[in-house]
Amino acid sequence: MTGFWSIYIAAFVVLNIIGCVGLLWYTAHRRANKVNQAETTGHVWDGNLTELNKPLPRWWINLFYLTIVFSIGYMVIYPGFGSFAGTKAWSSVGQLKAEEAQMQELWNARYARFEGQPIDVLAKDPEAVQVGQNIFANNCAACHGSLGLGAVGYPNLTDDDWLWGGSPDQILTTILNGRAGVMPAWGPALAEGNQLAAVSAYTLSLSGGERNELSVRGAATYNTLCVACHGADGKGMQALGAPNLTDNVWLHGSDPAAITRIIAEGKTNQMPPHGPLLGDTRARLAGAYVWSLRPAGQ
Ligand code: HEC
Ligand code: HEC
Repeated sequence: MTGFWSIYIAAFVVLNIIGCVGLLWYTAHRRANKVNQAETTGHVWDGNLTELNKPLPRWWINLFYLTIVFSIGYMVIYPGFGSFAGTKAWSSVGQLKAEEAQMQELWNARYARFEGQPIDVLAKDPEAVQVGQNIFANNCAACHGSLGLGAVGYPNLTDDDWLWGGSPDQILTTILNGRAGVMPAWGPALAEGNQLAAVSAYTLSLSGGERNELSVRGAATYNTLCVACHGADGKGMQALGAPNLTDNVWLHGSDPAAITRIIAEGKTNQMPPHGPLLGDTRARLAGAYVWSLRPAGQ
């Protein structure tokens, strides 16, 4: 709060208090002048029912004085008088922080045994998986789905197909540090001839699609432009997050039009780092839940 607004508010508070005290004093004073001399409003009903204007009883006025004393005491202890923080220096943010710190302490005490454990070890502990599932629901489900099944552009975490590797350490690294998959846009480079259609047909043929004259022609382009990341055999490269193109699992859609589009337009796909958000132990617990989603027998 700037100096001006602080003074403005403080002045308002003082004026209000003086106003209240003045009003009460005036009421009591008026009464002192008219002891036992009830004023009438001039309204009369049924011939003899007169409406009187009696002052408030003394005890009632004293209650009002008490509320004023209370308000002054309140403003000494709590914030409210301009920018004066009050003797307790209380603030709602401070209270929230203190409560959060208290919760964190409770959490730490309760889940200390999970600290630093590998996610596959944690996944054997039903409580860890349960806590991990809650963390997943709150932090991951918006992108990966509540069951981890993913969506177009968001990988399925329940299959055995991993962009960045499916070992416990690789999964934990993905969660803590995030990942960015960068597929360049090849539209301009493949504009001539029928190159885009050819390389797209070749890509589809890697996953069991038809092999024809067009796809064979695309092989040459693939071997020049794509091998560096997707490998000569098309099996991808986990260090770069380049997907396996031979397993018929498609992150960005499986129809030929979608595959041609991603080759032409490219894609930078980001898994945001969750270490800073969750801290190490919670990230591990989310990882334990992800580990528990693997297909049976893996
Ligand atoms: C804002 C959306 C978003 C959120 C939130 C998110 N992710 Fe992701 N995640 C992604 C995207 C997008 C990718 C794929 C990155 C790529 O294409 O390289 C990904 C990739 C992953 C992978 C790697 C999959 C693979 O095949 O290698 C794992 C594991 C993962 N996320 C787990 C999690 C967990 C656990 C959480 C919660 C703590 C989470 N994600 C939260 C978007 C998100
Ligand atoms: C610099 C490395 C790199 C090069 C070169 C590259 N890609 Fe990719 N490609 C990637 C990455 C990384 C992704 C995953 C993007 C993501 O995370 O969403 C990808 C995704 C794809 C996909 C989508 C896969 C899916 O599951 O939906 C196709 C198809 C593809 N690339 C084909 C190609 C073709 C064809 C070429 C050559 C013309 C090529 N890529 C060249 C890195 C590369």
